[in-house]
Amino acid sequence: MRVAKFEGHYHGFSDQGLVSSWFRFSGPPEAPVPYSTPGVHPRTTAETLVLPFGRRIALEHIRREAAELACVICEPFSAALAATDREFLQELRVLCSELCIPLVFDEVVSGFRVGFRGMQGEIDIFPDLTVLGKIIGGGLPCGAVAGSAKLVEGCKSTGDPFVDCESKAFLGGTMSGNSASCTVGAAVLTYLKNHPEVYAHLDAMTIRLSDGLTSAARAQGVGYFVRGRGSIFSMTFAHKTSASVREQHAASDYKANISLAYYMRRHGVYMPELHTMLLNAAHDPPAIDAVVRAFELSLKEMKQDGFFVY
Ligand SMILES: Cc1ncc(COP(=O)(O)O)c(C=O)c1O
Repeated sequence: MRVAKFEGHYHGFSDQGLVSSWFRFSGPPEAPVPYSTPGVHPRTTAETLVLPFGRRIALEHIRREAAELACVICEPFSAALAATDREFLQELRVLCSELCIPLVFDEVVSGFRVGFRGMQGEIDIFPDLTVLGKIIGGGLPCGAVAGSAKLVEGCKSTGDPFVDCESKAFLGGTMSGNSASCTVGAAVLTYLKNHPEVYAHLDAMTIRLSDGLTSAARAQGVGYFVRGRGSIFSMTFAHKTSASVREQHAASDYKANISLAYYMRRHGVYMPELHTMLLNAAHDPPAIDAVVRAFELSLKEMKQDGFFVY
């Protein structure tokens, strides 16, 4: 069976998850050619069905390949673009139900971050399986797969390994059910459940930072796009917003994107060079304003140093 995934959606370093997830894309945008890194078997790469997110043609590909597909996996909220497409996800949900293909939402980043019920709760579209990580461990390493009883039962142990090895998909490992991660994670999730104001605060800080950065770039005549939702940011030096990760790579000034991180550090703000930006609950208005101020200073210096000469 094959896995269907979307170009530019990142699912960690599983063999199929890595395919066409990152930096390099191949083939026409409407029919991507699977591309992966050394270390992934070429047959695994070639047999992963890579689809263009948000395009009707992806649904046609799924229908055509349905008999071969083990699942369709996607990021319901693309962390790289800080965007979702509810209408497309709705159509994908209906199609997967019709064709009996499990739909998997990777909410490793968006889960418990964009809202307590993740992106699926925000858009009211629910997958058959959800992949979780990061926040659920409360800072400790943790991952989880949750979903419909029918699918989870397929790998839930009976307690008898001799029965399991004949009737269950194997799931387990050194870190499975790690008690420290589970205890800390449960405490964080309980806190978030009892403190919905955390999300209101994160939303307010997201808007404050997006608006501040956008105004600063506009004031200096620099093409810069910031998209922020639920504490997740996509920020690029470009002249238009991008509808896909491939488009974002092609249309944005990567030299400037990467360099910005170094300029910002000189003004006391640490940001990663090439990664989605995330806020946390400790970021308050003075912290956000300090980031905007550092950005203003960085842009001025970058202009002086010869960036943005178009
Ligand atoms: C959307 C998404 N899915 C899955 C993962 C998990 O990746 P891994 O556990 O391989 O680090 C990540 C990690 O950053 C991610 O961003």
